[in-house]
Amino acid sequence: MTDPQLVLTERVQQALAAAFGTEHSDADPLIRPSQFADYQANVAMSLSRRLDRGTPREVAQEIANRLTEAGFPGTVEVSGPGFLNITLSDDWITAQANEVLQDPRSGVAPSAVPQIVAIDYSAPNAAKEMHVGHLRTTIVGDALARVHEHLGNKVIRQNHLGDWGTPFGMLIEHLLDIGEKNAVAQLEAGEGNAYYQAARAKFDSDPEFNRRARARVVTLQAEEPETMRLWHIFMDATVRYFNKVYTQLGVTLTDDDIAGESMYNHALAQVCDELQERGIAVVSDGALCVFPPGYTGREGQPLPFMIRKSDGGYGYATTDMATIRYRVQDLKVDRILYVIGATQAQHMSMLFDSARMAGWLPDHVSAEHVQIGSVLGSDGKMFKTRSGASIKLLDLLDEAETRAAEVIRDSDYEETERREIAHAVGMGAVKYADLSVSHDSEYVFDFDRMLALTGNTGPYLQYAQARIRSIFRKGDVDPAQATGPIVIGHPAERALALKLLGFGAVVTEVAEGSAPHKLAAYLFDTASAFTTFFENCPVLRSDVDPAVRASRLALCALTLRVLETGLELLGVPVPERM
Ligand code: ARG
Repeated sequence: MTDPQLVLTERVQQALAAAFGTEHSDADPLIRPSQFADYQANVAMSLSRRLDRGTPREVAQEIANRLTEAGFPGTVEVSGPGFLNITLSDDWITAQANEVLQDPRSGVAPSAVPQIVAIDYSAPNAAKEMHVGHLRTTIVGDALARVHEHLGNKVIRQNHLGDWGTPFGMLIEHLLDIGEKNAVAQLEAGEGNAYYQAARAKFDSDPEFNRRARARVVTLQAEEPETMRLWHIFMDATVRYFNKVYTQLGVTLTDDDIAGESMYNHALAQVCDELQERGIAVVSDGALCVFPPGYTGREGQPLPFMIRKSDGGYGYATTDMATIRYRVQDLKVDRILYVIGATQAQHMSMLFDSARMAGWLPDHVSAEHVQIGSVLGSDGKMFKTRSGASIKLLDLLDEAETRAAEVIRDSDYEETERREIAHAVGMGAVKYADLSVSHDSEYVFDFDRMLALTGNTGPYLQYAQARIRSIFRKGDVDPAQATGPIVIGHPAERALALKLLGFGAVVTEVAEGSAPHKLAAYLFDTASAFTTFFENCPVLRSDVDPAVRASRLALCALTLRVLETGLELLGVPVPERM
C-alpha cells in the first residue's frame, strides 16, 4: 500500500484504537489534502463530541501523541479548533516512490477477491437514432470495463440493443417494399432514423401497410423462419453501422458482447407466468404488474411495474426482468452495472426492487444504475445540429477529427502521421469530455472547449505524455531503463512524487464508485504537478548532477507510465507524438 491517504487512514485508526479503545479502529479519520500541510485529519472534532471527553484540541493532541509514539513517518501538528496537520517525511515519500517505480503495475493492486461484473452499456436502438446519449453510455461503460479488467475482475460486456418489439413489424415490411439491397445500404450508412420515419409514415397513412406490419409482428413473435431471415438482414446491417462508430471511437465492444432484447423473447411468457403464479405480479386493469412498495403516482396511488400490457404484449420492463434473472442465474455475476441515461432512474429502481421481490436479485449481488446525464447543446437543450435535426454520430466524430487537425496544424508531421494524430486527438477530446465530468451531471457539448490544449481536456493530457516521451527521445534514454533511484531535492519533485503515490488508490476508487471522472481529475493533477516540476527542475541539462538526472528521469518515466496507463483505462488514445 503506497497511497498516502490510505496509509494515513490506517495509521490514525490505529492511534484512535490505542487512545480511545478498539471500537474506534474503523472510524473514518477524514484524511483530506490540506493547504497547510500534506494532509489534515478532521476526526477530532466529531470524536470529542461523541466521547464527551475534553476539547477537540485535547483529543487531537492525544491522537498526535499516539501517532508519534508509534514511529510516524512524518510530523503531526495540532492546529485551529482541533485539526491534525500531517506532513510526511521526504524519506518516506522517496521510499514509497521507488517502490511504485519498481512495481510493473505502478501501485495498482489487483482485486483481493476478483468479481464477475456485468456491464450493460451502449445499447442503442435499431432504426432509431444512435445519439450522443448513447455515445456517452458507450464511453463511460467502456472505461469502467477497462478499469475492472485491469483490477483482475471478470468483465462481461452486455450490449442490450433495442432490437425487438412491435416497431419491427413495420421495419421489416418497409424492407420488403424498398428491397433488401436499398435497405441494407441505408442502414449501414447510419440512416436508420430516416428509414424508421419512412416506415412510420406508411404505417400511419396506408391501411394495407399497417395490416401487413401488424401481421408481421405476429410472425416475428413466433420467430417464424422467413421473418427471422428478414430481421437478421435488418439487424446485421444496423450492427455494421454501430460497429463503425465503435471502431472509430476505439471502444472494446465486439459482436460477442451483443445481448439485445431479442435474446430474451423466448423467456418473456415464462417470466410473467412464474411471477403471476407466485403472486408477485397481479392483474390490474387487465395488465400484469408488480407493485414494488414505495412508488406512488400523483394521486398517491401505487405505481405499477408493468410486465404484460392489457393487450397481452410484453415491454421493456418484461425484458429487463428476464435479463436480470439471466445475469444472476446464468452469468453468475457478483455485480451488474447499468450504464444508462439518468432519465431511466425510476425504471431501474423499480426493476431492482421487483427483481429482489422475485428473489432473482439476491442480496449478495449488487445491481447499480450508473446514471448518465444528458449532453446538451449550447442552447441548454438536448444536443442537436444547428438546424435542429439530430446528428449522425459518425459525422460528429469526423468533425472532431477535422477540428483536431486544425489544432495540431503547426506541427510538421507528414500526412499519414498527421491524420493518425488528428484521429487520436479528436477521439480523445470527445471521450475525455464525457469522462471528466461526473457521469450523472449534464454538460454542454462544445468542440472548442474539449479540444483546448490547456485545462482539464483530453488533448492536454495527451500532450503532457507526448512531451515526456520527447524528453526521452532527446536524451536518447529508454524510459524502461530510467530506474532511478528517485531522490527528493526540490519541492516540485516532492509534490510530483507524492501525487504519483496515489494512482493505485484512485483506480480502485473508480471501480468501487463507478466514477471515471476521479481518474480524469487525478491524471490532470498529475500532469499539472509534472509541468511545475519540469519548469523548475532541469532533467537533461549538462550541469545536472548524474544522480539527480537519474532521479528526475525516473520521475519522468513514472509520470509517463501513470499517464499512459490512466489514459488507456479511460479509453483515451495515447499518441506517441503530438
Ligand atoms: N436501449 C435503451 C435506450 O436506448 C437502453 C437499454 C439499457 N439497458 C437495459 N437493460 N435496459 O434507452
